[in-house]
Amino acid sequence: MSKNDDHAFWTAARKHLIRYGGSFDPAIIERAQGSYVYDADDRAILDFTSGQMSALVGHSHPRIVDTVQRQMAKVAHLFSGMLSRPVVELAERLAALAPGLDRVMLLSTGAESNEAAIRMAKLVTGRHEIVAFSKSWHGMTGAASSATYSAGRKGYGPAMVGSLTIPAPNAFRPRFRHADGSLDWKTELDDAFNLIDSQSTGSLAAFIAEPILSSGGMLELPLGYLTALKEKCRERGMLLILDEAQTGIGRTGTMFAFQRDGVTPDILTLSKTIGAGLPLAAIMTTAEIEDTAHDKGYLFYTTHVSDPLPAAVGLAVLDVVAEEALVERAVRLGNRLSDGLRQLQQRFDCIGDVRGRGLMLGVEIVNPGAAGAADHELGSRIAAEAFRRGLSMNIVKLPGMGGVFRIAPPLTISEDDIDLGLGIIAQSLEAVSVSGVAKTGIAAE
Ligand SMILES: Cc1ncc(COP(=O)(O)O)c(C=O)c1O
Repeated sequence: MSKNDDHAFWTAARKHLIRYGGSFDPAIIERAQGSYVYDADDRAILDFTSGQMSALVGHSHPRIVDTVQRQMAKVAHLFSGMLSRPVVELAERLAALAPGLDRVMLLSTGAESNEAAIRMAKLVTGRHEIVAFSKSWHGMTGAASSATYSAGRKGYGPAMVGSLTIPAPNAFRPRFRHADGSLDWKTELDDAFNLIDSQSTGSLAAFIAEPILSSGGMLELPLGYLTALKEKCRERGMLLILDEAQTGIGRTGTMFAFQRDGVTPDILTLSKTIGAGLPLAAIMTTAEIEDTAHDKGYLFYTTHVSDPLPAAVGLAVLDVVAEEALVERAVRLGNRLSDGLRQLQQRFDCIGDVRGRGLMLGVEIVNPGAAGAADHELGSRIAAEAFRRGLSMNIVKLPGMGGVFRIAPPLTISEDDIDLGLGIIAQSLEAVSVSGVAKTGIAAE
């Protein structure tokens, strides 16, 4: 019998855990190393989502383990008004990576960093309306969840007053098209801001955006979009907040995703990848905005702000990213992975689209028999099959879209493991293709 079928474990889990969303994978995870997690039978499962999109340098990287042990023994947590060397050093290092964003505050989670950013934008502008994309995810706390439109809005009462949204551009399913059928995002953006202007009470404070909407189905903002969005914000006296929880620290092939576009946001939030799996987040802004906020009495005083342990981890993450040239690696291995996925798209009708950048890719699963209509159920079957075969892939299911696999392995993943993962995806597609999704061979119809 598999040790994963531990009756007492699952009974206790059912009895005592609050279910916070989705279902639990059918395995008990005992440990993790590099690009793999290991279940109770010590079966290696290739982790194509870096934990919760966070284990940027792989699980249990020796440098991170060593840093945690050393810093824990020195000082982990302090009175929030005390400073330590790792905090100031990390602020300095981050500021050097994002010219113009000289001021940094270190926090714990992504939602928290977005709370801090939105709070700062409101105080600095003296306004309260916050605009976000209709397929966004910025976190589960008050202001962050009010700016989250991809899930979780029903049943919790009113969102923050002044929560506004515009559609996220989707090149695979365009709402506005050029004559050749391609996405006309400029017209879409103009149209969206006309609606914002109609709805606004004259109190637009900020737009908050992910450069690649991850939970929204790996929708990449087209080149030029961020520039145009920043201009829309500037025209209205709003700030642009970029949430690089998942895209930050090299995953898309530049240190920050906004650097591809040459657009610096007014406020940048980082989480997930900067702690590589430990709870570390950051908000960064310009000296001018921070000075204004401070003059107006900006308050974001939390228990774990400026804690030395996570800051030391953040420094170790930046060291590993630099020493192992992981940003360049994200480009190289990302090309290998996307080439492999595109080859699979040639073979399997149910792969509607492959998109994304660097090692942050999306694969949209559609129903080939229904003119490419969304097919969440098929995606879920492929994911379950892959898991049985030793590959963990996250799938998002959104109204109007197919199931979208979010593929973001650690940047330290080997070429062999990329190929292994592609092989398992192919086998899983073959296995479910009995019901007719393969383009080659295996019974269609
Ligand atoms: C883009 C983005 N921002 C913010 C968050 C929230 O981060 P956390 O769950 O650490 O609060 C997430 C989480 O998935 C995210 O993907």
